[in-house]
Formats: sequence, structure tokens, C-alpha cells
Amino acid sequence: MHISAALSRIAPSQTTAMTDRATQLREAGRDIISLSVGEPDFATPPHVLDAAKAALDGGDTKYTPVGGTSRLKQAAALHFARDLGIEVPTSQVTVSAGGKQAIFHAMLATMSEGDEAIVPAPWWVSYPEIIRFAGGKVVPLHTHAKDNFRFTAADLEAQIGPRTQWLLLNSPGNPTGACYPAEMLLGIGEVLRHHPRILILSDDIYAPINYTGARHATLANLCPDLADRILTISGVSKSHAMTGFRIGVAAGPEWLIKAMERLQSHSSGNPCSISQAAAVAAFEGPQEFLAEWCERFRARRDLVVGAINAIPGLSTPTPDGAFYCMVDAAPLMERFGDDARLALHLLDHGVAIVPASAFGHRDGFRISFAADEAKLVEACKRIAEAVA
Ligand SMILES: Cc1ncc(COP(=O)(O)O)c(C=O)c1O
Repeated sequence: MHISAALSRIAPSQTTAMTDRATQLREAGRDIISLSVGEPDFATPPHVLDAAKAALDGGDTKYTPVGGTSRLKQAAALHFARDLGIEVPTSQVTVSAGGKQAIFHAMLATMSEGDEAIVPAPWWVSYPEIIRFAGGKVVPLHTHAKDNFRFTAADLEAQIGPRTQWLLLNSPGNPTGACYPAEMLLGIGEVLRHHPRILILSDDIYAPINYTGARHATLANLCPDLADRILTISGVSKSHAMTGFRIGVAAGPEWLIKAMERLQSHSSGNPCSISQAAAVAAFEGPQEFLAEWCERFRARRDLVVGAINAIPGLSTPTPDGAFYCMVDAAPLMERFGDDARLALHLLDHGVAIVPASAFGHRDGFRISFAADEAKLVEACKRIAEAVA
């Protein structure tokens, strides 16, 4: 084996590991309900599929510009303006193979050995691994269920040091579903104003899945004076049930977009041409279905939150967005030891979830409620029996 020092610093994704384990057990004949996967269970909208088919039939099968076709960049700029309130020219937009690749390239393109990134925890599993791979140091900013898993401007200020280069913001958040309202972001923006060296990654990939009733709030819109150091990540994976298409989009300062595209030119090259055509249809086509999906997710959220909070030893705040909730199981830890063992115990009882430790947290687990109601009811019943 010849594993590089950079790769040795990172671990495989635990969410993928749990999903794979559940699939294996299912293939072996076990009845497993998987609530571990981070994708909507809805079908990709038909107009998106039609656009992909038309692209294939039209011979749209060759290389495109590395950072995406100008057609898709325009559609993405429309999306940033319409849905996030961020006005950018196409020179400040890039397209990659999923939001994940955009984040990967942004970190690799900017971090040097010893640079620090402040990452609120519980965090999305890939953030710390990407930062470590890029040579950076992860500075956790722990948040708690009692605060709905949100940090304040003062919490942020306390974590900033001379080597802080990035702050990662994710709202609505994976794995907590926490959303930052405008007034909290304005406070965070005020802190960042005093630290001009810090870049901000605003991961808004779950923006359309928001149950607060308020318009999605994002830093580049609220604090335009900071926009020249904000990279906003979005995409079609979650909003349009297009996880397999692998298209993510990013908007930010031109120097950073160019740097990311320079890297992409030597890694994957352009994102898939067919997927790009499908993403144009996703951004430019009808958006009305989103409200209906959101309502369905909200009903599932209420079902899961109600059922979990009725189980002795388990509790969860009500998530404001995305399709996850972070369940606290601290009162059960004396019996189970740690959350990894609890996760295996739940798997034995036919439910796959992801232990909180995968997200830089502890003593709990993440449930994805992107599954139909009958499955969610049965899964919660099995969880209750398993911990009883
Ligand atoms: C918070 C967050 N950001 C980014 C991504 C990347 O999504 P994709 O690469 O599928 O566009 C995910 C996917 O799980 C996510 O949860």
C-alpha cells in the first residue's frame, strides 16, 4: 500500500458506510429501514428528465468549458438571484460535479499547511475531512440542542485566531436542520467585518427546504460589503432530487472561482454535459413542486419529532429546514456505552441511522426523514422497542 500523507489524514464517510452496511444486510434478507441516506426519496421532476434525454438525443455528449456551459452559468446566476438574493455576473459562477466537489476545490485552492477553518459542529461529515486533506486544521465550534444547534456572534469571535482562514456556515444545516435567521447572520457578519482575512463558505444547498415561513437568509445577500470573500454553494441535488446527476454550483469572488476552475481543469474537467443540460431545466423550469415537497417533508418532520420525543431517553429539537434531525440519546449512554454501539443496536432492530460522532458530536444519532410516512412510523416503533 502506498497511501499519501494527505489521504492518511482523512477517514471514509461514515454516512456512506452506514448506508452500505444497511444495503448489505438487506441483500442478506434482513428487513432494514434505512434512515441514514442524505437524499430526497422523491422522483426527479419529469421536465428535468426530458431535458437530459433531449441533450442525449441532440448529441450533447462532448467536453464543455471546464467550469460549465455559459447556458448553465446563466441559469445558475438566475437561481442565485431569484432564490438566494445574490446578484452575480456569470464570471463569478462555476459549476462542478456536485456541491461536494466545489467545496473540495475551494479548500484545496486556498488552504496552506496550518491554516485554520472554523467549522460549527455537529457538522456535515465531509467538511473536516476536506479541510484536513487540504492541509488545514479544523477548529470546531460546538453548538448544542438547547440553542437549536446555532452558534452566536460571540461564540464565533471566541474561536477566531491569527491563522483563521475560513468560516464554514451551513443553513439549513446537515445534520441538525438548524437555520440561521437574518438577525443572527447580521451579527455574525458584524464580527467578520473586523477580521478581513477570513473567507466564508456559505453552504446553502438545502435553502429551498425551509419550514420557518421566512425567506431564506444568506450572508452574501444580507452583508453585500462582505460578498467579495463569501463563496455560496448551491445545487440541484437536494432541491430537485438530482443527487445522481452530480451538479453543484458556486458563486463567489472572481479570483476564487478562477482558482477553483484551474484545479477542476486538472481533476474532473467539466461536469457531465447531459447533467448540465438537466440542471438548466431544473433552474429555469417550474419551481412550484418545491412548495409541495416542502409540505410533505414538514409532515414527516412533525411525525418523527413527535415520535422521538415520546420515547424515554431520546429527544430532539424541531428542525427548521433540510430533512434531518439530530436526536439526543445522552440518558441512554450508561446502558449502551457510546453512540456507535447504540447505532449497531438499532441496526440489529432493523433501523439504520448515523451516530452523532460521525458529525463531530456525541451521544446521539441523525435521522433522515426523507422516507415515506409508513416507513417512518415503523422505524420510530422499532427505535422505541430497541431502547425500551
Ligand atoms: C451540507 C451539504 N453540503 C453539500 C452537500 C453536497 O451535495 P452534492 O455534492 O450532492 O451536491 C451535501 C450532501 O449531502 C450536504 O449535506
